[in-house]
Amino acid sequence: MEKQQIDHAIVYHHPGSTKRTVRTILSAAIFTGACAYFLGTAVDLSIPQVAQPVDAGYKEGNFTWRKCYDKYECSTFAVPIDYRNSSSDKFNLALIRLKATKSASKGVLFVNPGGPGGSGVGLVLKAGEILSKHGDGYYDIIGFDPRGMGESNTIRCFDDGTESKFFTANRRTMLSPGDNPANHAAFLEAQAKQCISKSDFLPYVSTASVARDLDALRDAFGQELTNYWGFSYGTFLGATYINMFPDRVGRVILDGITDPRQFSGDIIEWIKASLVHTEDGIDEFGAACEAAGPEKCALAHRDLALAFDGKHYVAPTIRYYLNHLINHPLLLSNVSPQDVVLQIDVANAFFLSLYKVAQWPAMAKAFAEAIQSSTGNGLYNIINQKEDERCPLVEKYSIGATPVFCIDSSHDKHPDAKSFLKGVEEASDVSPLAAGLLGTEMLQCLYWEVVPSERYDGLWNHKTKNKVLLVGVTGDPITPAESAEALEVLMEGSGVFHKHHGWGHCSFGQPSKCTSKVIRDYFVDGKLPEKGSECPMEDQPFELIPSLQSFSDNGLTYQDLSVLADAVHSAQRRMQ
Ligand SMILES: *[C@@H]1O[C@H](CO)[C@@H](O)[C@H](O)[C@H]1NC(C)=O
Ligand SMILES: *[C@@H]1O[C@H](CO)[C@@H](O)[C@H](O)[C@H]1NC(C)=O
Repeated sequence: MEKQQIDHAIVYHHPGSTKRTVRTILSAAIFTGACAYFLGTAVDLSIPQVAQPVDAGYKEGNFTWRKCYDKYECSTFAVPIDYRNSSSDKFNLALIRLKATKSASKGVLFVNPGGPGGSGVGLVLKAGEILSKHGDGYYDIIGFDPRGMGESNTIRCFDDGTESKFFTANRRTMLSPGDNPANHAAFLEAQAKQCISKSDFLPYVSTASVARDLDALRDAFGQELTNYWGFSYGTFLGATYINMFPDRVGRVILDGITDPRQFSGDIIEWIKASLVHTEDGIDEFGAACEAAGPEKCALAHRDLALAFDGKHYVAPTIRYYLNHLINHPLLLSNVSPQDVVLQIDVANAFFLSLYKVAQWPAMAKAFAEAIQSSTGNGLYNIINQKEDERCPLVEKYSIGATPVFCIDSSHDKHPDAKSFLKGVEEASDVSPLAAGLLGTEMLQCLYWEVVPSERYDGLWNHKTKNKVLLVGVTGDPITPAESAEALEVLMEGSGVFHKHHGWGHCSFGQPSKCTSKVIRDYFVDGKLPEKGSECPMEDQPFELIPSLQSFSDNGLTYQDLSVLADAVHSAQRRMQ
C-alpha cells in the first residue's frame, strides 16, 4: 500500500508517457476555467510506466526543474518520512516555482495557504504572479504541497473514488441540526478506522514534521534564512517553524493568525477563540446590506424581512431563515436531475461567504430568491460553485485536513463524544452559525488513534533572528485579530502586530491599499511597521469604491487581491 502510493507520485512527477497524457488534457482544459488543471491529477496513474522523457528538465543546484503549466517550473524534493530514523523511506514533496522578475533576486519566498493540508502548488499556480507582485518581483515564489497532501504522496483512505463515494454518499462530515449524534459519531469513527487501516503515513504528517521539511527546503535552495508568507493554518506552520528554527527566520509574514496555543491544544477552546467575530460578520452583512439599499443588496427589501430586532431586519432574517431551513429543506425548480438543498450546506456556504466581502452580494441575492420563491436554485448554485472553486489538487477521496488537525491538537479535556458535543454546544454560544459546523466535523479527532512521531506545542517565545510581521483582521470570521495580538505578546518582541480593519478572512478578504503597502515594504525593504500599526477600512461591504480598483503603488489591482483571496480560501478546504 505504502509502496504503491509512493510509486504513483513518482510516475506523476517524472517525465514519461503518462505525463504526456496529463499535459494534453491540461492544455485542452485550461481554457474551460480556473479549475481545469485539476484534471491532471484525475488521470489514473495506478500503473507505473517506463519513463520516456518528454521534457528531461534541467538540473540546478539540488533540483531538477522542468517547465510546467506554461510559465512555471516544477520539481520534487525528497524528505525523510520519519526524521528520527536515518534509514527512513522518503516523501516526495511536489514543488512549484515562479522565478523573480527582477534580476537582483532577494532569494526565495515560501508560501502556504492553510488548510491544514492546502496545496501550495495550487496556490502558486493560481496566484503566483500576485504573490510575486507583493514583493515587487524580487522573490522566487515557491509553493509546496505538504507531506501526505496534494501531489506529495497523498494519504488515501480508500482504494479508489468509487469506494470513497459509496462510503460518503449523502453523508456529511458535519452533523445536521436535528440529526442523531450517535449515528454521526459512528460514521466518523468508521471513517477514521478506515483511514488508519489504509495508511502507514499518518503519524508523520504533524506540523512539526512539515516545519522540518520547510527547513530542509531552505537548505536545499542554498538559503541561509527562510522567507515565508503563511495564511490561516499556514500561520500555525509559521509559528511552529520560527520557534523550532529561530536562527533561520528571514522575512516572515503570518496573515490571518490562529492562536498556536489553542491550535495545538483543546479543540473546543480553539473553536471558541476562533469564532469570536463570526456573528459580528453576520450583523455587519445585514447592516451594510441595509445601508447599501436594494440596488446593491437584494435582501434590503422590507417585504422580504422575516424577522426584526427593533433596529435591523436583514441579519435577523438571515438567522431566522437558517433556522427555518432545518425543518424546511428546499427543492429546485425547472432542473433535472432534481436535488435538495439542506440547511447544513446553506449554513456552511454562508459561513464561507463571510471569508470574502466581495461574495456578499451574491449570497444576499441567493437568500432573497429562496425566501421569495421557496426554491433553492440560487443557493444550490452557490453551494456547488463552492465545490468547483475549491479546485482541489487533492483528489476527492483523500482526507485533507483531518490527519494534521487531529494529531496536532490534544483531546484530553473532551475525551468522549458526549463531552465533546457538550463542548460544541457551549461553543455555539460564541457562534450559533459556525461552532457546530467546525465542531461536529472535528469530532472525528476523538477516533483518530494515531500517535504523532513528533508534535510541537510550544514554547512560542524563542528569540528569532529577524522580526516577524503578524497581520490580523478585526472582523475575521475564523482567525480574529485578537489571536494576532495575543501572538505578539507571546513572542516577546520577536513579532510586530499589524491590525487590518475589515471583514473577511486574511488581509485580502477585504483588501486595503494601506495594508498591501505594509506587506510590500516589509518584503522589499525589510521595513516593519511601528508597534500599534493599523490600517483603516477603505471601502464598505456592498459598496466597493472605484478608486480602490487600482492598487497602483506596486502594480497590484483590486482584482488581483480578489484572485488571491479565492486561491487561498479554496485551498483551505476543511475536512470533507
Ligand atoms: C527505519 O526505516 C526503515 C525503512 O523504512 C524501517 O525498515 C525501520 O524499521 C525503521 N526503523 C525504526 C526504528 O522505525
Ligand atoms: C544543496 O543542498 C545542500 C544540502 O542540503 C546545501 O548545502 C547546498 O547549498 C545546496 N546547493 C545549492 C546550490 O543550493
